[in-house]
Amino acid sequence: MSGTSGENHELPSLGDGPTIETLLERDAVMQASIPLPSSTPIVEGYDWNAGVDYKELFKTYRTAGFQATSLGLAIDEVNRMLDCRERPLSPNSLDTLEEDPFIQRRTNCTIFLGYTSNMVSSGIRDSIRFLVQHKMVDCIVTTAGGVEEDLIKCLAPTYVGDFNIDGRILRDKAINRIGNLLVPNDNYCKFEDWVMPRLDALLDEQKKKGKVWSPSTIIERLGHEINDSNSILYWAAKNRIPIFCPALTDGSLGDMMYFHSYRNPGLVIDILQDLRRLNRIAVKSTNTGMIILGGGVVKHHICNANLMRNGAEYSVFINTGAEFDGSDSGARPDEAISWGKIKRTAQPVKVYAEATLVFPILVGETFAARHFAKKAKIPNRLCD
Ligand SMILES: NC(=O)c1ccc[n+]([C@@H]2O[C@H](COP(=O)([O-])OP(=O)(O)OC[C@H]3O[C@@H](n4cnc5c(N)ncnc54)[C@H](O)[C@@H]3O)[C@@H](O)[C@H]2O)c1
Repeated sequence: MSGTSGENHELPSLGDGPTIETLLERDAVMQASIPLPSSTPIVEGYDWNAGVDYKELFKTYRTAGFQATSLGLAIDEVNRMLDCRERPLSPNSLDTLEEDPFIQRRTNCTIFLGYTSNMVSSGIRDSIRFLVQHKMVDCIVTTAGGVEEDLIKCLAPTYVGDFNIDGRILRDKAINRIGNLLVPNDNYCKFEDWVMPRLDALLDEQKKKGKVWSPSTIIERLGHEINDSNSILYWAAKNRIPIFCPALTDGSLGDMMYFHSYRNPGLVIDILQDLRRLNRIAVKSTNTGMIILGGGVVKHHICNANLMRNGAEYSVFINTGAEFDGSDSGARPDEAISWGKIKRTAQPVKVYAEATLVFPILVGETFAARHFAKKAKIPNRLCD
């Protein structure tokens, strides 16, 4: 007898034809489909017979599936953000009464960029510096390492090493490891020599002029002082793009502030002043976009500022976090919609990826592509 059932469950034969059982199985396997909408994309990758053409390759990401599709959708979302940003502000949207030039509304879509510290340790620093240098983002949130690693790289280089170098051997040689990057301890000694007199100067201004420092105003000052065109902080200070860092003390800069507080005590840093600045930027914006690399404080701080305006219009998250543990780092944009941090009408995208792999591609297909297209249209001297 055909069929797979046990001896007590045999089904009657239908003559020479199939059993009822095989008919049931056939129905299960061959169930007729309801047609997908005609606009549903067909899976398709890149045909290398067309030659090595990265522009065309990245276009096929949208239809390649998995995280390639997410990256393709992220490229589309950032381009929507930039289309909105390029629309001129209406005359009654001009922010002429705002006295703080760092938080003045400048475009029709305020772009918030967030990145964890390790992004600045890595080559992502150079992509971020490009965006800040050309005034392509309006507001930055990072962690302490994202501030100090930028400054330290102006004093001495970070090297490419290996994830597997033995920590004990590195400790004996006073070399610190960040993933597969290596930072000699000497770099931090150079940083100490550079930053201590600057902390003295901050304290002096606080005492003599009553200046109340906040993380963003300290970061601005250090950006002017470093005076190096490779630096994110330098361009942010020059272009009046605020950099917020609510946990400024959790890094080498904090170590320096700790030592400084014994050597020359009294420096006070006001984080609430920065929260007011950050939230005001969000509240005053006509539209907002969020591009957030990594999770933790940077992700939540930007999303929370956008809650103050009932959510961002555009959002791209790039991180390796997963949501099963309930972490904010791993939360999908949908969770942010539930809190009112992203608008319910938005089309946010999360790319599950390590940022060094995908962020340069995202920049190349959006900000940089537009920058160089504009440059090609107008004489060089008119470009910034
Ligand atoms: N170079 C450094 O990383 C460095 C240096 C000095 C101080 N610190 C301090 O360490 C603390 C923790 O750092 P943090 O809050 O910046 O972030 P983190 O390193 O704790 O990362 C937070 C989350 O972001 C995601 N993420 C991190 N790197 C990613 C990547 N390359 N691609 C995709 N997703 C990624 C992961 O989900 C991760 O759990 C901070 O207070 C910071 O100042 C870091």
